[in-house]
Amino acid sequence: MSESVNQPILLVEGLGKNVANHANREHVSADDELVILHDIDLCIQRGDSVAIVGPSGSGKSTLLGLMAGLDVPTRGTIFLDGKNILQLNEDERAALRGEKIGFVFQSFQLLPSFTALENVMLPLELQDNGGTYAQAREQAGQLLARVGLSEREHHYPSQLSGGEQQRVAIARAFVSKPSLLFADEPTGNLDTHTGQQVIDFMFELNREQDTTLVLVTHDHVLANRCARVLELQDGQFCRAAKVEQG
Ligand SMILES: Nc1ncnc2c1ncn2[C@@H]1O[C@H](COP(=O)(O)OP(=O)(O)O)[C@@H](O)[C@H]1O
Ligand SMILES: [Mg+2]
Repeated sequence: MSESVNQPILLVEGLGKNVANHANREHVSADDELVILHDIDLCIQRGDSVAIVGPSGSGKSTLLGLMAGLDVPTRGTIFLDGKNILQLNEDERAALRGEKIGFVFQSFQLLPSFTALENVMLPLELQDNGGTYAQAREQAGQLLARVGLSEREHHYPSQLSGGEQQRVAIARAFVSKPSLLFADEPTGNLDTHTGQQVIDFMFELNREQDTTLVLVTHDHVLANRCARVLELQDGQFCRAAKVEQG
């Protein structure tokens, strides 16, 4: 299937994940599995913003990891831009991920021995068609300026505050102009004010680059900034509505 504007950016059908039941690890059989994600259906259109909320352990990170192609499901299908990512081999999936997907983690996950600039340049350098070093340098510099960190280009993660590290991580996630950005509790390790700043940058870049946002959060203020809020409970969606604030 070729790329088309009317096609959903992400289409998930009957997606499920089982894991071995660790309590009985010595004799694991097919019945000895835990269903951590039931059959999830989800359709996300280009430019949409979707928040996934739900209690700890409800399967949010598992779902995000599957949709981003970081993990493989037990059942179901995932179409990214019309392409069934589960029919791709590991290398093809990694290439598609590099081209289309950005990911922001709660724990930032910057490379400690790389400077801020080098961390942001990395996705471009990993792309087959990522352009020259000078172009990567230029784009990474622009993104860091965009999140207010021009002065920090040559600092290492350990020399940056949590909020600054997360801004570097956001610059890194956006530098390859992904169609789809996943963020797993991006403000979970930040204080309210810093978290707010980080989120502002994410939504600004989302608008500028027309990126589709899918984020997991405990923060209802953040969730309500998304066009859709989906709630997971015990590995299933239980409702799709804006969350009451209070
Ligand atoms: N690799 C795994 N092996 C066993 N259990 C797992 C694994 N990954 C997640 N789980 C379990 O699946 C459930 C959902 O986990 P997770 O997706 O991390 O939830 P959330 O992000 O909503 O807190 C939890 O009960 C967790 O312990
Ligand atoms: Mg989680």
